[in-house]
Amino acid sequence: HSEETLYRPNYHFTPKKNWMNDPNGMFYYNGYYHLYFQYHPDSNVWGPMHWGHAVSTDMITWRELPIAIYPDELGTIFSGSAVVDIGNTSGFGKVENSAPIVAMYTSSKQLEGKDNWKQTQSIAFSNDEGKTFTKYENNPVIDNNELKDFRDPKVSWDEERSRWMMVLAAGDRIMFYESKDLKAWNYLSDFGRGIGGHGGVWECPDFFKLPVNGSDETKWVLFVSINPGGPNGGSATQYFIGDFDGTQFTMDDEFSKALNEEHTYWIDFGKDNYAGVSWSNARTKDGSKLMIGWMSNWQYAQAVPTETWRSAMTVARKVQLQKNERGFRLISNPVREIENYRGKKVKKENVLIANETKIIDSETIDLSSVEIAFNISNLNQEGGCTFKLSNKAGDELLFGYNNAKKLFFIDRSKSGKVNFSKDFANKISLAPRTSANQNLSGRILLDKTSIELFFDNGESVMTEIFFPNTPFNQLSIKPTNQEFNLDYIEVNQLNFN
Ligand code: FRU
Repeated sequence: HSEETLYRPNYHFTPKKNWMNDPNGMFYYNGYYHLYFQYHPDSNVWGPMHWGHAVSTDMITWRELPIAIYPDELGTIFSGSAVVDIGNTSGFGKVENSAPIVAMYTSSKQLEGKDNWKQTQSIAFSNDEGKTFTKYENNPVIDNNELKDFRDPKVSWDEERSRWMMVLAAGDRIMFYESKDLKAWNYLSDFGRGIGGHGGVWECPDFFKLPVNGSDETKWVLFVSINPGGPNGGSATQYFIGDFDGTQFTMDDEFSKALNEEHTYWIDFGKDNYAGVSWSNARTKDGSKLMIGWMSNWQYAQAVPTETWRSAMTVARKVQLQKNERGFRLISNPVREIENYRGKKVKKENVLIANETKIIDSETIDLSSVEIAFNISNLNQEGGCTFKLSNKAGDELLFGYNNAKKLFFIDRSKSGKVNFSKDFANKISLAPRTSANQNLSGRILLDKTSIELFFDNGESVMTEIFFPNTPFNQLSIKPTNQEFNLDYIEVNQLNFN
């Protein structure tokens, strides 16, 4: 098996060659979803950052385009965002009936000494729908001589106040700004000191309003990526829910209580979803947001066993808010466009799982590209279940649920190549179950080197990567402590050409 056949994902974006990290500058315009990304075109490890570029009509199948933004005298091009300036507020628009795209990113200039840089915010505009960018002549638009970490601007349109808003990560807090024209920025407030997870530096924020499912209410959501300090080690993305008065973000009371008494809230508890942010200008019917994350972890991203390229993105996800007995919670699920790729299907109903039970082997369906949905009823208090993916080489990827501890888990310790980093498989990754539903439901997306678990309609999410020695071709399920009834399991082949 060559690296291409064995490890190049079927439907998760990877650059053809070399190193990629954070998704950047995502916007939707004229039928295309644009995705830029932190890119080092000269090597398969991190280095001087550029913005790579890819487009898609459905966020599932991507086409890579030439590099969109190159380093300049202000520095290399770190993470940031892009907006469609429909009203030409910036004055950058020059083409009739076409809005300029304005990107805002961090210029990061290496100074003398290791880990010493100057980070400022710059803008660039495009009059060809995001293919090529011209840098603004008066960059940087936000200078900085004090803060070491000052980066990753995420711009959005503030509907209520007809202005642009921007959030920026500054080490241990998020800074909020506003602008009328994307060039002059006014500082508004900050949020985060002493609040939430602080096991590492704050990065890649996002800030947006979401409707609460089934109500007329709306709430503001703040995403903050943090590295290290994630729930299972390394990098991960936490979120906060609250209100915004035009100047200051304040946490919702119940949410704040839950945060203090329980744990930090993570959009994904798996080890491999970082720096995720939302698409701008993608108007969904239900007001939900669309996002994508980097499917790796700074602990080992530069050492994973692929040489030609390094890293993939997660599947694009729809994020929504729901309210349960304990307050507001974020849920996320794969975008519905993935369903268009469904082909051959295997469905089993009312399967009693008393012993390890084989569900799929290679003759029925190719497991390296499937979507699995299932529903389990009557798990007893001490019960649990383990799903096992396995192959001829004897590799195993285990995941499932422990009802005694109310924890979901992924165990990749025997999943194939794991020794490239001591942090890759040294621990079983865990995620708390928050739903009180009697039935446990789940959706699983499998690609050659990744698993994305969406339990309880997206309330508990886990994303992890793996590198088996040969493709996984068997799926079985086994009970813990007591047999249980699997109401149904449906395995859909996903077809990509
Ligand atoms: C997050 C991050 C960002 C930064 C970029 C550099 O993964 O560290 O804060 O802008 O990567 O590539």
